[in-house]
Amino acid sequence: MKLTPVLLACALSASTSAYQLPQIPTLSNLASHLPSLPKLPGFLKTLTTDSISASPVLSLHRSLVQIPSVTGEERPVADFLTTYLTSHNFTVESQVVSGDRINLYAYLGTNRTTHTLLTSHIDTVPPFIPYRASHGTIYGRGSNDAKGSVAAMITAVQELLASSTIKEGDVSLLFVVGEEFDGVGMKAANDLGLKWNTVIFGEPTENKLAVGHKGIMLFHVLSSGKASHSGYPQLGINANSQLIQALARLDALELPESDLLGPSTLNIGRIDGGVAVNVIPAHANASVAVRVAGDLDETLSKIKDAVKGVPGIELKFLSQMYGPVELDHEVEGFDTIVCAYGTDVPNLKGDHRKFLYGPGSILTAHGDNEYVLKSDLFDAVNGYKALIKEALWPKKLVPAVVEGEGVFNVGERIEEVKNAVVDKVAEKVAEMERIVVMAPKKAKGRFLKEVEEDL
Ligand SMILES: *[C@@H]1O[C@H](CO)[C@@H](O)[C@H](O)[C@H]1NC(C)=O
Ligand SMILES: *[C@@H]1O[C@H](CO)[C@@H](O)[C@H](O)[C@H]1NC(C)=O
Ligand SMILES: *[C@@H]1O[C@H](CO)[C@@H](O)[C@H](O)[C@H]1NC(C)=O
Repeated sequence: MKLTPVLLACALSASTSAYQLPQIPTLSNLASHLPSLPKLPGFLKTLTTDSISASPVLSLHRSLVQIPSVTGEERPVADFLTTYLTSHNFTVESQVVSGDRINLYAYLGTNRTTHTLLTSHIDTVPPFIPYRASHGTIYGRGSNDAKGSVAAMITAVQELLASSTIKEGDVSLLFVVGEEFDGVGMKAANDLGLKWNTVIFGEPTENKLAVGHKGIMLFHVLSSGKASHSGYPQLGINANSQLIQALARLDALELPESDLLGPSTLNIGRIDGGVAVNVIPAHANASVAVRVAGDLDETLSKIKDAVKGVPGIELKFLSQMYGPVELDHEVEGFDTIVCAYGTDVPNLKGDHRKFLYGPGSILTAHGDNEYVLKSDLFDAVNGYKALIKEALWPKKLVPAVVEGEGVFNVGERIEEVKNAVVDKVAEKVAEMERIVVMAPKKAKGRFLKEVEEDL
C-alpha cells in the first residue's frame, strides 16, 4: 500500500542506500564444517532444523525480507527472485521499468497468457529494518508490506503445482517495483500486452478480502493578486484573502459518497501565501487531497463549481487521479475489510476480476515495528490457494447438460444455468422430457434442489 505522494517524497529522500547483509553462519552450516565429528549429538540436531528453515513459506519470506529493497533500489531482490523462480521451473521474463529497475513476470512452460495473475510489489518504504524472528512473530521492513504477500503467493502456486491442481496457462506471477511511490512498475506492466480473467493483488488486508478502496484526487489552489503597501490596500489585490474564500468553500463542500466506502474526505494539507505583514500578497496557494468515495467526475465538477466566482483562483490538478476501486469480495470462507489506503489495483488496466488479499495489518505496515505473524503467513498460503481455485473454478460453477435444450458449457455459473433451465421449462414444459444435469454429485444435488424450488 502507499502513502500520499507528498509524504512519500519526504520519506524517500531519507532513504539509505542498499547494502549487503553479512552472511550469518547457521548451526547447520557450522556443523558441515566439522567433518571430524562422527555424529551430531541429538540435541544439536533438533536445534539445526529450526522452524523457519523447515517451512518453505517462512524461509522464502526470510530471504526476501533480508534483502533491502527500498523504492528505487529493488534490483537485489528482483535478482534473488529471478534465481529462485527459475530454479523452481518458472519461466521468468524481466521488464525494464527504468535504469536497472525491473518488473518480473513468471509463468509455467511457454504460455505467458494465463487465466489468472497473482501480483504484488517488491519495493518497501524506507528505512531498511533487518529481519528478526521471535516466537510467532517476524519483524523487518517489508515483512508485512508486501513481502509476506509475495512469499505466500509463490508458495501457494508451488503447492498447487505439486498437487497437480494447476497447469501451464492457469496462473502467472507479476512482481513490480515502485508501488510505494508512484506505481511506475504496475503502470509499465500494461505494456506487457497481456490480459487476464482474474487478478489477485497482494497487500496487507489481515487475510481478508478487501471490498474496495477510495480513489484519490490531488490539486493545488493557486491564487493571484496584486502586491501593494498594506496601508493602501485599494491599490492591490490580496491573494491570501482570495485563497481563504476558496478554501472555506472547499472545506464546506459535500462530496459524493458511497454505501460501500463511506464519505469522500477532503484535506487542505498545506497553505503558502504572502511575504510580510505590511505587504498585500500577490501570490498564495494551497495543496488539497481528496479521498474519493463517490463518482470521480461528479466530485471533480463539484470542486470546480465550488471555487467558481472567487476572483483570481485557479485549480491545478495532478495527473495521478482515480475514482473508487471496487473489488470482488464475495467468496465463501473469506471475511471482508474496507481499506482506506491506495494500491496498484487502478494502475493495471483491463477488464479483469479483482481480488485484494494478503497477510499482515496495514496498521503496522509502515511503522518502525513492522511485523507479520507466522500463522498469518501460513493462513495466507491457504487463502491464495483458495482464491486461485475460486478464480479458475468458481465455487458455483457446474458443468451441466440439459437434454433437449442444448448444452450448457463448463464455465457457466449455476445461476445462469439455473435461470436458463427455469425459463425454458416454464416456456415449454411439454417439450422437456427430463433434465439431465452432469455435475459433481454435491453440486448436482444443490442444482436440482434449486431448480425444483424455482419451479
Ligand atoms: C523441474 O523440472 C524438471 C524436469 O521436468 C524436474 O526434473 C524437476 O524436478 C523440476 N524441479 C522442480 C523444483 O520442480
Ligand atoms: C494459454 O493459456 C490460456 C489460458 O489458460 C489458454 O486460453 C490459451 O489457449 C493457452 N495458449 C496456448 C498457446 O496454449
Ligand atoms: C506555492 O507557494 C509557495 C510559496 O510562495 C511556492 O514556493 C510554491 O512553488 C507554490 N506552489 C505552487 C504549486 O504554485
